Order: sequence, then C-alpha cells, then structure tokens
Amino acid sequence: MSVFLLPSEPIESLDAYLATDVGGSGVRRAHELGPAETIDVVSRSGLRGRGGGGFPTGQKWAGVAAQSGARRYLVCNGAEGEPGTFKDRALLRANPYQLVEGMVIAAFAVGAAEAFICLKASFRREIDAVTRAVQEFQTAGICGDCKVTIVAGPDEYLFGEEKAMLEVIEGNEPLPRWLPPYLHGLFATAPQMGWQSHDVAAGSTNSGGGSNPTLVNNVETLSNIPHILVRGAEWFRSMGTADSPGTIVTTVVGDVVAPDVGEVEMGASLRAVIDAVGSGPVAGRSVKAVFSGVANAVVTARDLDVSVSYEGFEAIGSGMGSAGFIVYDDTTCMVDAAYRFSRFLSIESCGQCPPCKLGSSAITEHLERIETGVGNDGDLDAITGWLGHVTDGSRCFLAAEEQIVITSILRAFPEEFSEHIELGRCPRPRRLPIPKLIDLADGRAVYDDSIWRKQPDWTYAPIERADGDA
Ligand SMILES: Cc1cc2nc3c(=O)[nH]c(=O)nc-3n(C[C@H](O)[C@H](O)[C@H](O)COP(=O)(O)O)c2cc1C
Ligand code: SF4
Repeated sequence: MSVFLLPSEPIESLDAYLATDVGGSGVRRAHELGPAETIDVVSRSGLRGRGGGGFPTGQKWAGVAAQSGARRYLVCNGAEGEPGTFKDRALLRANPYQLVEGMVIAAFAVGAAEAFICLKASFRREIDAVTRAVQEFQTAGICGDCKVTIVAGPDEYLFGEEKAMLEVIEGNEPLPRWLPPYLHGLFATAPQMGWQSHDVAAGSTNSGGGSNPTLVNNVETLSNIPHILVRGAEWFRSMGTADSPGTIVTTVVGDVVAPDVGEVEMGASLRAVIDAVGSGPVAGRSVKAVFSGVANAVVTARDLDVSVSYEGFEAIGSGMGSAGFIVYDDTTCMVDAAYRFSRFLSIESCGQCPPCKLGSSAITEHLERIETGVGNDGDLDAITGWLGHVTDGSRCFLAAEEQIVITSILRAFPEEFSEHIELGRCPRPRRLPIPKLIDLADGRAVYDDSIWRKQPDWTYAPIERADGDA
C-alpha cells in the first residue's frame, strides 16, 4: 500500500474511521508501548515534519519530552498559509479522524495535558470537520484526559509560523516571539528575556511560571502517526527513500491542466508528479520554473527530474517545503515572478525586525521598477545590497525566504533582468498569479486575489485602488 493518508472516499464519522484497519488502534498501541517506546517508533520510522522544514519528528518529540517544565502542550499547525499549498485542507476534508488520533498519541508521548488545533477562521469547512471529529472522539472517551481546543486564527501568512501561532493561541497578533516553542511554550512566563532569574520548572497552571515546552506539528505530520503506530516503523520505511520515508501529499497548481492535490511516494520525479497530480502543462507549453511555496529556491526546467524528497531538492540547491508546487510555463516573465513573490513576502512581514520589512519592501520597489521598464543597473545593485542584509537580526524564517527566493531567480534568469533594462519594458507581459489558495477541487483552483489589495500594515485598500492588477 503506497497511498494511505487520502482515502478515495471521505471518512465522515467516527464509526466509519473505527471500521478501518487503523482507526483507534494507534492510541491503543501507544498505550501498550508507553511514551518512550512510542517516541522510539516514530523516530525509527524516519518521519519528517511536513510543515516545510522536514525536521525529524521523533527527534522533536524526544526534545520536548526531555525539557524540564511541569506543564507541556501540543499544537497542531493547520494554518496552511503557504501559497501553492492545499494538502492540509484536503486531508481534513478526507479524514479528520486520523489527525485527531495522531494528536492524542503525540500528547500522550510528550506528556501534554492540553492540545490545540489551529486553523484559519476562513477554513469553515475544515473547522466543521475537525470539530465534529474531536467531539466524537471526546464522547467515545478516546481523548482520555487530553483536552483538545480548536483555535480559529487570522488569514495572515505569519499565523503559520510556530512562534507566531503560540501568540495567537494566547489571544495576541501573529507576531513571532524570539524563542522556539520547546524553550518558550504556551502560557509560559519563563524563560524571561530580562536579567531576572526564574525557576523554569515552577509552573503548574496556565498562569503560573515555567517554560511550558510545547510541541508544534503540522496536520500531515500528525495524520501519519496512527498509521505508523499500527503498521510499524519498518512498514513506513518500506515507502519513499532512505532519507525521506513515506508518502507526501503534494499540491500542484499554476500553469497546469488540472490543479489538484495527490498523495505520492517520496522519490517520484517532480516531472512525474506535475503530470500525475496536475495533469501536466497545457498543450503546446513547457514548464519554465517551479516553486515549492514561496520559501525555496526556484527549480528550473533543467532540474525537473529532481526526486520529490528532502535530499533530492537539497541536492539541486532548493528545498521541498510542504510540496506545494507552483508551476509557471514558458509564457512567464521571471522578473514579474520575482516582483510578485517579493511583494507577497514584504506585505506579510510583520516589521518587528526592521531589515526584514525595510529590505523586502525596498527589494519589491526596485523589482517593480525593472518590471515596469523604468529600472536600471542601480536598481539591480540596490536589490543585491539589500539581499545581503534582509535577514539581519531576524526572529523568523520569512526574511530568509525573501533572500533565498529572490537570489535564486536573479541567479537562474539574469538575462531577463538585463532584457527589461535594455528594452525599457517587459517582453512577456501577463498577469501572473501568486496562488494563495481559497479552494481546490475538481481540477479548479480558486486563488485569493485580495492579496493584491493588502497593504504593508495588513489593512486592505479599497477594491478600486488595487495594485498588481496590471
Ligand atoms: C512564515 C512562515 C509560515 C509558516 N506557515 C506554516 C503553515 O502554514 N503550516 C505549517 O505547518 N507550518 C508552517 N510554517 C512552519 C512552522 O513554523 C513549523 O516549522 C511547523 O509547523 C512544524 O511542524 P512539522 O515539524 O510537523 O513540520 C511556517 C514557517 C514560516 C517561517
Ligand atoms: S523576520 Fe520579518 S516576518 Fe519574521 S518576525 Fe522579523 S520582521 Fe516579522
């Protein structure tokens, strides 16, 4: 069996889930094994976090379990704000029960007494599905002592950043804090950032002192857990590659015939995934560039045979991210792509670290000048200068995303920048989408066009003043 996360028909009741080979058996198996052995199975499976970074899940769980602190929490990241990605919503629509069971197992393994599932408030359908699943689990007593709360968060891209997500759970804006969740968890009063000493293990309530180590995992990561507990680490390792075992739920959107979500074994070629999941480029067109979300270096036509795996993308100087592939065909202007990616990131930057907000905004302005035909070599120099500093003192990875994506486009397509400067216009004018997905079903993707009206302070311009509509 090489596809197990996305059932052919949605699972819509706890009874239907319990009737599957896995339903309910994962929690039972974890209780038979105990927390340490459960973590060991997850470690041996080689599962890596599907939220974008690919961090080994067992190692993360062991790290949280080993932290001192009386109170621990689990957070499931279902913000899914990465453009080009829809897989978490597809999973929640198809089977919210495997996620809830994965959360119950994770909470048991790391000793978390409370868990939170964070979704955007705009994900109504998925919130309804997961709310129903949690209620049915609670009524059936499968959650045990673990309290599970669903949090409806804002549409901001940063909501999905784990340190910002903890802020949202605590009722604040999605502004990333300094320390990672395993060091400074939910409702923590320590570690303090000042000079005062503190007792990290003192906390036993939400308001008391303590660092409250918190485990944050993506929807897809946790959805894998019951399957691994029931079928074993070796079964999981029998799929995919040695460094990237298992399957991956990919999204393929952009210039393809039928955008969609599909589960594939790790190690398939990107070209095959674009064909199998997105039905390939439209007739007469060829793939020019592929981006995995907005966080990784561009993949050019030359590298389309890269293996869809963490090590495969790393070997070509990119990253697999959350396997949300944005495909652009040969009608695409890469200067415009750079401008639109940079604009998205600069608008979503929160501004807590000035080089990130100022740098990404300046880069966006210079890219816009080149794209609209008024740019010169001075703009290119200014972009290069800012790219060297945009990450200075940054609290989160967004600034690095700007640096990585824009640098990669400049390196892969230098001739397009000089062409714009020489011609004084864009040779491939076309309204390029940044596919921030609202819906994806039946080969049809709905993009959130309001991003073009979003302003640097996160307010929205009235519709008639929308820029980016060129
Ligand atoms: C700007 C930004 C946005 C992110 N958005 C998401 C998101 O929408 N969903 C997600 O699971 N992880 C997102 N992440 C990654 C999370 O911070 C975190 O690494 C992830 O949830 C960990 O889960 P995993 O170990 O299961 O991959 C984002 C990171 C950054 C820097
Ligand atoms: S790096 Fe950018 S987005 Fe991240 S906290 Fe700093 S200013 Fe905000």
